[in-house]
Order: sequence, then structure tokens, then C-alpha cells
Amino acid sequence: MLALDSARRRTAWDEVMTGFVPGLATLEAAIGTATESVLGRPPRRVLDLGGGPGVVASRMADRWPGARVTLIDIDPVLLALARDGASPAVTVLDADLGEPEWADPAGTGYDLATALMTVHYLRPERIRALYRRCRQALDPGGLLVVADLMPDDGLPTVSAALNPAPGEAAAELAWAQWWGEATAAFGDLMATRAAVFRDRPAANFAGSVGWHIAAARAAGFREAGILWRDGRHAALAALA
Ligand SMILES: C[S@@+](CC[C@H](N)C(=O)[O-])C[C@H]1O[C@@H](n2cnc3c(N)ncnc32)[C@H](O)[C@@H]1O
Repeated sequence: MLALDSARRRTAWDEVMTGFVPGLATLEAAIGTATESVLGRPPRRVLDLGGGPGVVASRMADRWPGARVTLIDIDPVLLALARDGASPAVTVLDADLGEPEWADPAGTGYDLATALMTVHYLRPERIRALYRRCRQALDPGGLLVVADLMPDDGLPTVSAALNPAPGEAAAELAWAQWWGEATAAFGDLMATRAAVFRDRPAANFAGSVGWHIAAARAAGFREAGILWRDGRHAALAALA
């Protein structure tokens, strides 16, 4: 039996993510406050897209004890950690967000959908399709939050000057170390992971705020705008 050491690895993952997005805690707080305010109650069903090892999904389950959280990811290592260590309120699904079929097992009737640092893996047309699928998965009045590298169209000079952000090299190193340790521990699963991402290299697309707002509006969301910003990272909120 593979010893996943999932608690320690998930804590270390959280530290790596916070290295990339130092304001991660304020993002999660903004999502929580906005969701409760818009719904007028806690969410009952939450969809976390590209939820990795389920750290954020578990925190959402802790914040909203009555909620059922569905996590989707494609990485076999991160899925194993999520299945082993995430909150029991989190259902973990293995699906490719680059293909429209991901929405079938996820179903509909969600109050909140989140994609934190996920969409830069996808090509622009796939992100547009993801917005459309999220609009269908959400109930009317539900909220989608997409956080990623998102330059501000009105501030091209400032956005360019922030690239790379201070601390980004250290975060890249911490990411490499995390995966280095995983390589030593997960063996066969790492080989499976390599095959998964060989067919789906990260697109590294960083659409601007305007690009994401236009994609959300085209997908049928009735409002879309920026909920949160921290340096190069921003979070779009879109209301179904
Ligand atoms: C930078 S990580 C962020 C993970 C998580 N949202 C967090 O904040 O901890 C990006 C996640 O997107 C997932 N991902 C990338 N491409 C995907 C795809 N085509 N389908 C499903 N998940 C994908 C990766 O496996 C990874 O878990």
C-alpha cells in the first residue's frame, strides 16, 4: 500500500500555492463573503475546478458545514491526495476540464463554482467552453469565481512591470521541490501523470480582465467583474 503522507503533502502544497499567490487567504475570504452575500445563505453545493489535492475545497467544506463540495481534477497524484486527505464532504472526480464531458459527472444545481489557478492550463477556446459549462452547472443566482494570472487591460505598463512578481522564483523552486519529493514517493503514479500532461501541456494563457469578462458575458452570465486582485493575480466573479 502506497504511503501517501497526505496531511504533510497537502500542507506543503498550500505553502507552495501561497508562495505563488501570497494573498490566497484574502481571496478565499472574498469568495466566502461574496457567496454568502449574493445567495443570502451559505451555499449548498460547490464545484471546485482543478481543485488539486483538495486543500481549498476542504476549507470551503469547513466554512459551510452543510455544503457538498465536488472537486474535479485530472492529475492522478493530486487526485490520490484529495481522495486520501480531503474533507469527507468533498467528492473527488477525475475529469478533463479541456473536454466538455467533464460536466456530465459533475451535474447541475450548484450555488458556487471556483477555478483557482486552473484556467492557465487551458487554451482560450477551452476556457470559453468552460465558462459555458459552468453557466449550465450553476443555478440562476449562482456565482463563478475564476482566479488566475489576469493582467489589467487599463494598466498594461504596470501589469508588465509586475512580471515576474517578487517571490515568484522562490515559489517556482518550492513547486519543483514539492514535485521532486512526489516523484520519489509516487513512482508509478508519476509515470501516469507524465502521460496525462504529455497530451495536455499547460497552455500558459493569461487572458486579461477584459478577455475573461467578455468570455463570461458571452457564456450567458448576467454580471461579470473583478472581485479581488493581488499583484499579477486577479479573480473574476460572474453571476449566473
Ligand atoms: C496550480 S494547480 C491549483 C490547484 C488548486 N486549485 C489550488 O488552488 O490548490 C492547477 C490545477 O489544475 C489542474 N488541471 C490542469 N489541467 C487540467 C485539466 N485539463 N482538467 C482538470 N484539471 C486540470 C491541475 O492538475 C492542478 O491541480
